[in-house]
Amino acid sequence: MAGFLSDELENYITEHSEKTGSVEQSLRKETLSLGSPSGMMSGDSVGNFLKFLVQINHCKRILEIGTFTGYSALMMASALPEDGELITCDVNSKTSKIAQNHWNKSPHGGKIKLILGEALNTLGGIGDSFDLIFIDADKNNYYNYFEICKKKLSNNGIMVVDNVLWSGRVLNPEDDQTESIDTFNKKITADKAFWNTIVPIRDGLMIIRRKDNF
Ligand SMILES: C[S@@+](CC[C@H](N)C(=O)[O-])C[C@H]1O[C@@H](n2cnc3c(N)ncnc32)[C@H](O)[C@@H]1O
Repeated sequence: MAGFLSDELENYITEHSEKTGSVEQSLRKETLSLGSPSGMMSGDSVGNFLKFLVQINHCKRILEIGTFTGYSALMMASALPEDGELITCDVNSKTSKIAQNHWNKSPHGGKIKLILGEALNTLGGIGDSFDLIFIDADKNNYYNYFEICKKKLSNNGIMVVDNVLWSGRVLNPEDDQTESIDTFNKKITADKAFWNTIVPIRDGLMIIRRKDNF
């Protein structure tokens, strides 16, 4: 599995954190049964942190780029109020079906709307004023997603970008994806309009907020 934590430590985190709902547990189990692709699931360390942000920031509208089997979406949706909405984008209809099947069984599934297609094409048609935006797909376009998403962030909104440490490879970028992530990290840090920090949860989360909120 990619990332800094072993599967054993991820399991330890799950066992020593507030228990997730039964649908979240069965979705996690089904995703793990997929084998190596399951490494794409952000898991409970990231999922619980995102859920916490949704709660403390009183989020009502969430945008996610990168649904996969829907675990992070369901974790975040479970902290939304009844009239909250989460829009999540992905290109993969097969993994999205696994997501939708589980969301349908959850009391929070009705808050989630899936948009299928290349995010760069679909984002334009998605509304704005999102209180939380989670970017977790297509590393080569991280900075493009940021440029589009910053206009969609509510005044008090938080943007979270996953895998910004890329298993440590950002220290010595040797391929396109790592270069893109490292460039994204540098550009965000240089952007005077935004406050940012990297939190070393799992593979590294970049937390971004408008500077005028500090
Ligand atoms: C790391 S996974 C998302 C994991 C999910 N957020 C979770 O925590 O369970 C990345 C997902 O991005 C999707 N993806 C890749 N390129 C994309 C693109 N150009 N537009 C939309 N989705 C894309 C992939 O199909 C994959 O399901």
